[in-house]
Amino acid sequence: MGFRFPARKDLFRTKTIPELMVCCAGEHALKKVLGPLELIFFGVGAIIGTGIFVITGIAAATYAGPGLALSFVISGAACLFAALCYAEFAAMVPVAGSAYTYSYASLGEIWAWIIGWDLILEYSVSIAVVAIGWSGYMASFLRDAGMALPAALANPPGMNGGVVNVPAILIIALITLLLISGVRQSARVNSVIVAVKISVVLFFIFLGAGYVDSANWNPFLPFGMAGVVTGAAIVFFAYIGFDAVSTTAEEVRNPGRDLPIGILGSLVICTILYIVVSLILTGMVPYTLLSTAAPVAFALETVGITWGAEIISIGAVLGITSVMLVLLYGQSRIFFAMSRDGLLPRTFSIVHPVLRTPVRVTVLVGAVTALLAGLLPLESMAELVNIGTLAAFIIVATGIIVLRRRNPEAERPFRCPLVPLIPVLAVAFCAYLILALPTITHLRFVIWLMIGLLVYFFYGARRVRDVRPRA
Ligand code: ALA
Repeated sequence: MGFRFPARKDLFRTKTIPELMVCCAGEHALKKVLGPLELIFFGVGAIIGTGIFVITGIAAATYAGPGLALSFVISGAACLFAALCYAEFAAMVPVAGSAYTYSYASLGEIWAWIIGWDLILEYSVSIAVVAIGWSGYMASFLRDAGMALPAALANPPGMNGGVVNVPAILIIALITLLLISGVRQSARVNSVIVAVKISVVLFFIFLGAGYVDSANWNPFLPFGMAGVVTGAAIVFFAYIGFDAVSTTAEEVRNPGRDLPIGILGSLVICTILYIVVSLILTGMVPYTLLSTAAPVAFALETVGITWGAEIISIGAVLGITSVMLVLLYGQSRIFFAMSRDGLLPRTFSIVHPVLRTPVRVTVLVGAVTALLAGLLPLESMAELVNIGTLAAFIIVATGIIVLRRRNPEAERPFRCPLVPLIPVLAVAFCAYLILALPTITHLRFVIWLMIGLLVYFFYGARRVRDVRPRA
């Protein structure tokens, strides 16, 4: 294996839509079992989690104050513009690779690789970050129940006396097993969890509304609009997940209709819930007090509803579980698509003959994310996930404009309205949020992309040409 710089025509070679669709047949075919409702549940399953149950508190206390609701509006707008672009692509190219595949169709191989590599970062790190959050909640539960875990086994190395984070490893292992067992089973478990999770959020809204004191909203923007925008870049994490709906494309019965419903439906539901929750949260307690690990439960406790706080904690643990479930699923499908194209080892795109799930890649993703979560102190990495996802949104939105020009005749079961305005707004909003992130996050992201380019030139660019017919 050595370095070889591919020819320009190879670097920017695009795949046609029929070419992309052909690869989903035969031994690499996944089972088609998902419908529109399951997709909305998938989206909500991935979206509502650590973002709203944990990160909102820090965002309100440190950056946005009661203006947190506006942060959610800005971030939600960026996501809505991007989601309309995702919906057009997902319906037009219903292939498991999501943004990676869309870039292959519109911008060319090198961009597809960059975005695929970027998505690996987005999903793997978020699974690990979310698993660590889950483990924190679980450890506190067990402690309350008189079964405290030794600190060495409940925290990542170097954090609060930790050596290895056992609960984080165990939950990822369990989810991996569930995903291997079949998509239908996984979707069922997800739907139950999501029903509980939405009920818990509604419970908070109805209970908390009675305790809002409008004095807490004054001043509404203690850190000005700049704080609101930084807050938006941070709480963007709470929206991540609607894009994972597009990775289900090959397992959906009627992708042209159902994927846009799943992507847009889940995003709209969560946006409304987030704006209302953040208004109530900052209305119940002074924002300065919210910098805690469990702000939603804390708000109820502060107004004296301890039993309510416990219900919220149970909902948070369950809710965070489904985030891991869907993200692990999404990561395995993106890796699967990249491997099927030859950019990653082909063995990872083999589908189990009986279960009809990609067992090898699911185990690989489970093992790597479990190691990340168990052995690394990743708690501050949510921002890295945000920048990776925002970059993916920018490339997808650009791809819509490019493909409308290059291939105007292609069948588009769902059309993003007002092109190019909406994709341009998606790019502008996402770029603005990227700029609002800390410089260290920009740096980490660039390093990750550099590593990705090395892998591409030393491995992917050579292998991809061995597995595809020459033009
Ligand atoms: N949106 C997901 C969460 O907040 C990643 O946990």
